[in-house]
This record gives sequence, C-alpha cells and structure tokens, in this order.
Amino acid sequence: MQATAIAQPNIALIKYWGKRDLDRNLPAVGSISITLSELQTKVSVELSDELSDDVLLVNGDENQAMLPRMSSCLDKVLGQNRPHAIIQSHSNFPIAAGLASSASAFAATTVAAAGASNLSLGMQDLARLAGASSGSAARSLYGGFVELKNADDSITLTPLCDVDSWPLQVVVAITETGPKATGSTEAMEISRETSPFYSNWISQQEHDLEVARRAIERRDFAQLATIAEHNCLKMHSVMWASRPPMVFWNAATMRCLQTVRRLQGEGREVFFTIDAGPQVKAVCSPADVEAVSQALSETSGVQEIMTSCLGSGARLVESL
Ligand code: PMV
Repeated sequence: MQATAIAQPNIALIKYWGKRDLDRNLPAVGSISITLSELQTKVSVELSDELSDDVLLVNGDENQAMLPRMSSCLDKVLGQNRPHAIIQSHSNFPIAAGLASSASAFAATTVAAAGASNLSLGMQDLARLAGASSGSAARSLYGGFVELKNADDSITLTPLCDVDSWPLQVVVAITETGPKATGSTEAMEISRETSPFYSNWISQQEHDLEVARRAIERRDFAQLATIAEHNCLKMHSVMWASRPPMVFWNAATMRCLQTVRRLQGEGREVFFTIDAGPQVKAVCSPADVEAVSQALSETSGVQEIMTSCLGSGARLVESL
C-alpha cells in the first residue's frame, strides 16, 4: 500500500486565472503550458489501517498548513473511506513562491495515491483528479507543451508538442524565496468579484489560445513570445486592478523584464512570463540559454537562477 511518484512543475504560457466552479475547482478559461524537467517534486504515499490520522512531511518536516489540502487530494482519488496515509513530499526548488510547486505536488500526490491502492486510472482521469486539487496540476500529468481545455462538465488535456520536437529551455530568476501573501484560489476570486478587466480577460482567452496553438504548431518563436507576454501582462493587469489590488511583483521582477527586453533587442530568442509570485521565467531557445541565464543572474535583486529543459509528465517511480 505504498507508491512514489515524481512530477515536475509546469509554466503556463497562456494562463489560467479564475474559476467557473469553486466547489469542483473548474477553471474559467483554458490554458497552455510547458512542463519543466529539472525542477521536481517526489511524493510517496503510504496507506495504513494502523494510522489514526494523515501525516504530511514536506522536505522532512511535518507540515500542518498543507495537510488539509493533501488529505482532500487523497479523498478525491481514493474516496473518504480510505485508510489514513503518511505523505512525504520533497521538492528541489522553493515551494509556495510562485514556482508552481502546487502543480507538481498535487500531480505527484494524485499519481502516488492511485499507485498505492493499485487503481488503474487513465491519464485524463488522473489529470482531472489532480486538477480538482490544484487547477494547474492537471497539466503536469503531461510532458512538453499541453493544452487544458474546458469541457462541458470537466476538463480535457491535449498534448500539443513533445519535448524533442521543440526543445525550448526556461531560465527561472528567483527574486524572493518567502511564501506568497495570497493563495491563488483566494486571489482568483478577488479578481472575479472586483476587477473591471475580468470579463475581458475571460472573453479574449480563446483568441490567445488559438494564436499560441498556431505558433506552437509552426514552432514560431516570435509569435509565441508576443502572445505569451501579452497574456501574462493581461493577467497581471486583472490582478492589479482588483480591490484590494494584488501586485505579486517586486523591483527585481521589473528589472528582469528590462533585462529580457534588452536581450530581445540584441536578437536573442527569449520571452518572459510571471505567475502569482515575484519570480520571472524566461523561455528561450537552447542557443540563447547561456546568455539569458548570465544576464538574469547579473540583474540586481536576483537571488538565484535555475535553468531547465522541458520534461515529461508525472509518473510512478521505484521508491522515495
Ligand atoms: O493551480 P493554481 O491554483 O495554483 O493556479 C495557477 C495560476 C497561475 O500559475 C497564475 C497560472 C497558471 O495557469 O498556472
């Protein structure tokens, strides 16, 4: 009754922001992401009738704050009458800081929970279950470029391009390592209820998805760069105009954007994207990864740089 799974975070190029059904955690819009390879979360789930409650260890330390969401993730996969579990999670990157650690954690937990009780679920089912815990986690079931589409009552996942067909790289500039101030569910609801830009955000998303889909199909870096940056800045405009305003950026975040603009001016293939945190993710071609990582590491306020290729989807592995 034990299984271990690995999942990698994914970075949305066309973002998910807003929910259409809070109870079932269904997104208001579709999204397109890339799954990373070097950043990883490994989760082991051990089910036991001997335990009186669930236990969660994150990087070796007991974590009460995350436990209710993890327990609820296990309930979704195994039902509420399941045995209690010891869940051990290890990530090799900062968690809860806008680096999509919840995506990799819930994708890995979903796969490990299904493995621990020998459930044989297909990828779409696992993705839907992971997505019910954290919307972006559904995308980490798949590698490379993946699209999450809204279906009538659910979501569907479509791989758009595999890792080897367009081996882009991502340089993550970490500008702050502390946990973020507002969780994404709460922040999305504030945007939905108060942002004057929210309805435009929703109505324009299909257009952005279509442009990105075409760019990926043609491996058109410039077109993907333009639409991804536009979509990212539009999502942050929705947040900034919310009441209370939600500004996840710091001064170094802005300086990283200026660095990316300078690199683009020098002819480098690179674009930025930012999620609900202060980190900047620079997506670039392999030929430009060294220059991008050098320039971002020299940008004032950047504390750490992580570089990643694109990677594969969540999977069971031998043991923790
Ligand atoms: O899956 P959540 O609830 O952590 O929300 C993710 C939201 C963004 O990272 C900002 C955008 C996205 O599509 O990943």
